[in-house]
Amino acid sequence: MFYRPADGHGLPHNPLTAIIAPRPIAWVSTRGAAGDNLAPYSFFNAVAYSPPQVMFASNGVKDTLRNVQETGVFAVNIVGVAMMAEMSETSAELPRGTDEFAAAGVARAECQTIGCPRVDAAPATLECRMVQIVTLKGRDNFMILGEVTGVHLREDCLVDGRFDATRYHPVARMGYRDYTIVRGVQELLRPDD
Ligand SMILES: Cc1cc2nc3c(=O)[nH]c(=O)nc-3n(C[C@H](O)[C@H](O)[C@H](O)COP(=O)(O)O)c2cc1C
Repeated sequence: MFYRPADGHGLPHNPLTAIIAPRPIAWVSTRGAAGDNLAPYSFFNAVAYSPPQVMFASNGVKDTLRNVQETGVFAVNIVGVAMMAEMSETSAELPRGTDEFAAAGVARAECQTIGCPRVDAAPATLECRMVQIVTLKGRDNFMILGEVTGVHLREDCLVDGRFDATRYHPVARMGYRDYTIVRGVQELLRPDD
């Protein structure tokens, strides 16, 4: 089949996020005047090495976006299979001011370079200072860009100097309500290696 998004896809559900899959998940923690906040965002990726920068996108004016606008900082917590259920729980649309750490039973710790909470047991956390919020085409679509100012790596995920995915099994988003869990890794050298 072929469709032009402007004309609609004619399918029961929009296939866009099933096409662009799997996507990593930023479990974004923020702090605002209303308290601490935690929510997953799969429109997420790294966009530069030096200085290290990441992006995530908010489709709607959500608490995370508001807190980043208020404070200029956020933390990206990486999700392993052990915390998949809690991650999903924190995606509930709860009233502003609800602390999703408490609601989902997620232990928090304090960031070191920014005034922001982080997920204590996360395999990795990126402390980020917002660089730019880009207003995207459409209604209430925003891309938040941040510079990574601090990196936490869980000690048991470091094996022979490498951050080892097989120690925590990254969870990634597919389309619909589907996820995939990384359980295997295969090395492939480049021609120049
Ligand atoms: C795995 C997963 C990925 C999500 N990715 C996004 C995303 O990229 N952008 C977005 O706006 N919402 C996304 N959501 C929905 C938000 O998590 C949800 O709207 C949440 O309530 C926002 O919380 P907040 O208002 O505390 O920021 C995602 C939900 C799940 C479960």
